[in-house]
Amino acid sequence: MAFGKRSPSATPTAAPASAPAPKAAPAPAAPRPEAAKAAAPKPVAVKGAPKAPSPPAPAPPEPKQEKVRQVSQQSEQYYATKTTIFNALIDTIDLSQLAQLDSESAREEIRDIVVEIISIKNVVMSLSEQEQLLDDICNDVLGYGPLEPLLARDDIADIMVNGADTTYIEVNGKIERTNIRFRDNAQLMNICQRIVSQVGRRVDDSSPICDARLLDGSRVNVIAPPLAIDGPTLTIRKFKKDKLRLQDLVNFGSISEPGAELLRIIGHSRCNILISGGTGSGKTTLLNCLTGFIEPGERVITCEDSAELQLQQPHVVRLETRPPNIEGSGEITMRDLVKNCLRMRPERIIVGEVRGPEAFDLLQAMNTGHDGSMGTLHANSPREALSRVESMITMGGFSLPAKTIREMIVGSIDVVVQASRLRDGSRRIMNVTEVLGLEGDTIVLQDVLKYEIEGEDENGRVVGKHRGTGIGRPRFWDRASYYNLERELAAALDELGG
Ligand SMILES: Nc1ncnc2c1ncn2[C@@H]1O[C@H](COP(=O)(O)OP(=O)(O)OP(=O)(O)O)[C@@H](O)[C@H]1O
Ligand SMILES: [Mg+2]
Repeated sequence: MAFGKRSPSATPTAAPASAPAPKAAPAPAAPRPEAAKAAAPKPVAVKGAPKAPSPPAPAPPEPKQEKVRQVSQQSEQYYATKTTIFNALIDTIDLSQLAQLDSESAREEIRDIVVEIISIKNVVMSLSEQEQLLDDICNDVLGYGPLEPLLARDDIADIMVNGADTTYIEVNGKIERTNIRFRDNAQLMNICQRIVSQVGRRVDDSSPICDARLLDGSRVNVIAPPLAIDGPTLTIRKFKKDKLRLQDLVNFGSISEPGAELLRIIGHSRCNILISGGTGSGKTTLLNCLTGFIEPGERVITCEDSAELQLQQPHVVRLETRPPNIEGSGEITMRDLVKNCLRMRPERIIVGEVRGPEAFDLLQAMNTGHDGSMGTLHANSPREALSRVESMITMGGFSLPAKTIREMIVGSIDVVVQASRLRDGSRRIMNVTEVLGLEGDTIVLQDVLKYEIEGEDENGRVVGKHRGTGIGRPRFWDRASYYNLERELAAALDELGG
């Protein structure tokens, strides 16, 4: 069998089933209204006559073609050859024995057999193609198959697999389709199973939803058929080894230099902070940055669903929730963790994501001498963030009057930082807002810093500015002066302008 190199133009970019539909033939252009008016004879108004037919509707805009990022450079023929060799390999080797070998020896074993199969089947391929095939097959048998090249890249934020033929990635804030594909849904399901079994879980028809973590710390979610209609769906938030620091956010333009200084002062003066934002808006990253201002001597306890934070301080206790086991027991919720934290003599409590009744315990902690505690939560504005906290407590069955809950919120949260992912894929800090107090039944908020969008540049990138709002003396002024930071605060506010 010949094993030719693909020519980029002749190769389809994705599986036939999932290839983007060919461009529709251009629809006949609708006559321009003025032209039609000029050409058509003027209708004579006759009582009771049927109405003149209305001009044809303008042609619908053509659907945009989806760009496909070439991640793997292989042709259809390559996949066919790989399947043949892979099947022959599976028939030959004893997988259970292979599993007992360390990965180097297993690779050697596979290499020998594959080379033999290639020569028996008379497959013609260059040495480099053979190496590539070997790598791919080893990845399939021992690792995460077609996901491996994506997992190896550090510039990818998310990997989203929607069934065997469709994989998207997020790079530089933009979601792109790739030409990565799996042999079939069974292979994809196998890989999902391999991922989740590493953390002692199982995903199948009877438990089709599963959260897990890769060995490198990446966060994984799997939802399988019948719930996911078009095949197993896998979402991976890649773990970044080199976490972004506040200075990186400044370099990216996510926050201005004086804005970052303001956050530094807020962190240092032990304000209780809530970080609010949408999915993937950079909440956890920001939380991680803010934890950088914790003094090395402080005892910090972090509670997360999947340990993502990387605190640099020596005295940190990291806690992680646990989902129920297959029999449905043994679950440890975020609330269990936060409640337990309070008995661990923490100085600060950091909650990865506040999603439910643990909001109550976090507020209590903030209120009872654990200043400088922080948490993130999903919301689109600082005000929405606070009303979400309120509804989490209400729904947690605490049966407290709304006013009491609001008093608690006002008494514990000092600052809300709002993060957003903008339409060009970039992340920005949109507001730094302080909680002033209650006026009647309403929580009064005050922006100290705001991002104002001014427009777009020629590359479609959002242009705007971080501005101060002219507040000379924010409510956390006294805190800042207690920590000897009032001069810096005054300077930062000055520089922010407004
Ligand atoms: N300011 C930024 N500039 C560029 N990339 C960023 C920025 N902030 C975060 N990122 C990247 O965006 C991705 C998502 O960030 P992060 O995990 O912090 O978001 P999140 O809001 O916590 O998401 P989720 O809602 O899924 O928990 C990460 O890969 C991170 O490195
Ligand atoms: Mg997060």
